[in-house]
Parts: sequence; structure tokens; C-alpha cells
Amino acid sequence: MERIVISGTGVFTPEESITNEELVEAYNKYAENYNLTNKNKIEHGEKVALELSNEEFIFNASGIKNRYVMDKKGILDPEIMHPILEKRSDDEPSILAEMSIKAARKALDKAGKNPKDVDAVITACSNLERAYPAISIEVQELLGIKGFAFDMNVACSSATFAIQAAADMIRSGSAKTILIVDPEICSGHLDFKDRDCHFIFGDVCTAMILEKKDISQSDNCFEILSTKCITQFSNNIRNNFGFLNNAKKSSPLDRDLLFMQQGRKVFKEVVPMVSQLIIDHLNNEKIKTNEIKRLWLHQANKSMNDFIGKKVLGRVPENHEQPNILQDYANTSSAGSIIAFSLFSDDMSKDDIGVLCSFGAGYSAGSVILKKLS
Ligand code: COA
Repeated sequence: MERIVISGTGVFTPEESITNEELVEAYNKYAENYNLTNKNKIEHGEKVALELSNEEFIFNASGIKNRYVMDKKGILDPEIMHPILEKRSDDEPSILAEMSIKAARKALDKAGKNPKDVDAVITACSNLERAYPAISIEVQELLGIKGFAFDMNVACSSATFAIQAAADMIRSGSAKTILIVDPEICSGHLDFKDRDCHFIFGDVCTAMILEKKDISQSDNCFEILSTKCITQFSNNIRNNFGFLNNAKKSSPLDRDLLFMQQGRKVFKEVVPMVSQLIIDHLNNEKIKTNEIKRLWLHQANKSMNDFIGKKVLGRVPENHEQPNILQDYANTSSAGSIIAFSLFSDDMSKDDIGVLCSFGAGYSAGSVILKKLS
């Protein structure tokens, strides 16, 4: 079978960031204003007073300390509570395409490739900026890539599903070198007025170059030994935003048009599902858990990752074996495990094996077994 490698990765990190303290201060001002404005209705039982958020809860429940964002000012203004992004003309690059190009250039550099070497682009992410034309075709145009491009969305598992799709396409001969980009402006789908989830997400973009091993020139390459993707329907993470909203007479401000989740149920259901996926995947490939040098897991919740790591390895993983980037980036949907892989893989030795794994809405989960080649 044709051998496929990830020969380069790149991360674009937005310039602005928000600490838990800053986020909680803004939310609590918003909640106090709300409670004051609605004092009478709250006293007469017509509205429920908003409770305050706090940093200790956020860090203890999730492991998040900080998040990078495309616009800090709007999110932290208690009168606004969402990012404010510039409206651009159709002749200007879209924001997702711009982020994608910045991450893509880093991945191309690492892989020692030029855009002309690439013959397909996949944009794989949770929240696309528009319905069409595909963001990936715009990325292709801006970088001067020949061939074809398409967008795909499997929520938090978009990147790992894209790895499987790209590796299969290269093996079957539809493309030789594929650029995958995962631009995530998660702050755009988050309700910063909802105390239960206002702390969860951040913005970022990751990129990867996948190609046949025999044409790779990278000195820091990982072979894709195997991929395994699974899905199982669940309403526990849901966003009803879509092109039928108008036809269904939804208001643009309806709560269900942003991210919603039953966090505790997700935690309980996804941990066993993902642990089993990785264990079964390793068994299928006849790889023993003691051969695994690193787990690059989806970055949604530190305790979730601790449970999964312990179940897979049969012991508590050392910090370096299961790197978390959640404390700095928060949950960045499909990009999370790719950031961990990009930042914590250069130190691995030849023939070391690691597992990259994402999980999220759908439910969807993707496991990718990687081996360091040089
Ligand atoms: N500040 C203070 N208290 C808060 C709070 C906040 N910001 N948000 C919620 N609380 C309160 C709740 O009201 C609840 O109070 P109660 O016990 O009096 O009812 C209590 O804290 C516990 O809330 P709960 O939502 O059960 O917390 P949790 O321990 O489950 O943590 C998550 C919440 C979201 C961090 C956690 O469930 C999680 O990460 N789940 C996995 C989600 C996931 O992977 N999603 C994928 C998304 S892509």
C-alpha cells in the first residue's frame, strides 16, 4: 500500500487573547446589569436572575486559563458580548481564507514545499464563514494552487476526518500533495452571555501537508500508519444555524443558532467511546499500548483527556506523553489536537509511534496512528 506522510504542520495564532479573569469580569458586569435592568421582573418571578461566573470553576471544570480570539473588544464589552469582525467586500479575502493562508505558509515551509507542489486543498472546520463558494477554493486561488479544493465539516473531528479523506485520495491517485487547513473562529458561534459555556472556546487556524512518502523532502515527517473514524448520532452538542433558518422563521438572535451542549452528558458518553476507539484501533493494527510514545488528544477538557489517557495507556500518562494546550488556547474545535501535534512532536525520535485523536459533535471521533520517520 502507498505510504503517506504528514510532512509539515503550521499554526496561526491570533494576536489577541483573553484570560479567565478578563472573561469573568465582563460576564459578571453583563449579569449584574441584566439583573438590575430586570429587577422588578425577577422579584415577581417573571425572569430568573443570572448567577455570576468565576475563574476557579472554569479552571477546575475544564483546565482552561486563556483563549486567543480574533476580536477581544466586542467579546469583553458587557453591552456587546460577541466578537466584532470587519465586513469585507466580495473582492477582499475572507477572514477564514486569510487565517488559512497564514497557517498554510508555515506548513508548506516545514514540508519544504511550494504552493505549486500542492494539487488539492481541503478546508476542514466546524464553522464556515459562508455557504459558498468554498473557502478552500479561495485558499487555492490566493496561494496559486492548481487542482481542486473542497470544504468539509465534521465539527471537532473535521481535521482527523480530513486526514483520512486526504490519505485515501492520495492512495487512490486523485491527488499527490494535499493541503488541509482548519480555520476556527469559535468565538463567533459561542454565546458569551451563557455562564455554562462562555469560557469554552478560542480561535486559531492549523494547517497540514499530506503527501506520498517517496516525494516528501521534509526531515520531520510522520507516516500515517492507519486511520479510523466513527460517528454516532447525538443531540448533546448542537447548533441549529443553517440556510433554512429564514424559512423556518427563526430570529437571528435565537439561542439555538449558537453552540449548545449538555456538557456533563457529553463528558460521560464520549470518554468511553473515544477510549474504546483508540484501544480497538491499536488492537486492529497489532500495536501494543506500551509502544505509544504520545497521545495528541482533542482539547476540550483536561479531565476528559486524563481519563482517556489513563484508559488507553493503562496508567496515568506523564505530562510529556499527553501534551495539553487547552490552558493556553481553550477548545479550538477541529484544530485542538493538531495544535498539540504541531507544537509537541519535533522532539520525538525515529520510529516513535503516537496517536492523534479528535472527538466532538455528531458524535464524531477520529483516530490517526502516526510514526516518526526521521
Ligand atoms: N461559573 C460558576 N459556576 C458555574 C459556571 C461558571 N461559569 N458554569 C456552570 N456553573 C455551575 C452550574 O450551574 C452547576 O451548578 P449546580 O451544581 O448548582 O447545578 C455547577 O457549576 C456544575 O456545572 P456543570 O455544567 O455540571 O459543570 P461540569 O463539571 O460538567 O463542567 C464543562 C462543565 C462544560 C466544562 C464540562 O462538562 C465539559 O467540558 N464537558 C465536555 C464537553 C465537551 O467535550 N464538549 C465538546 C465540545 S466541542
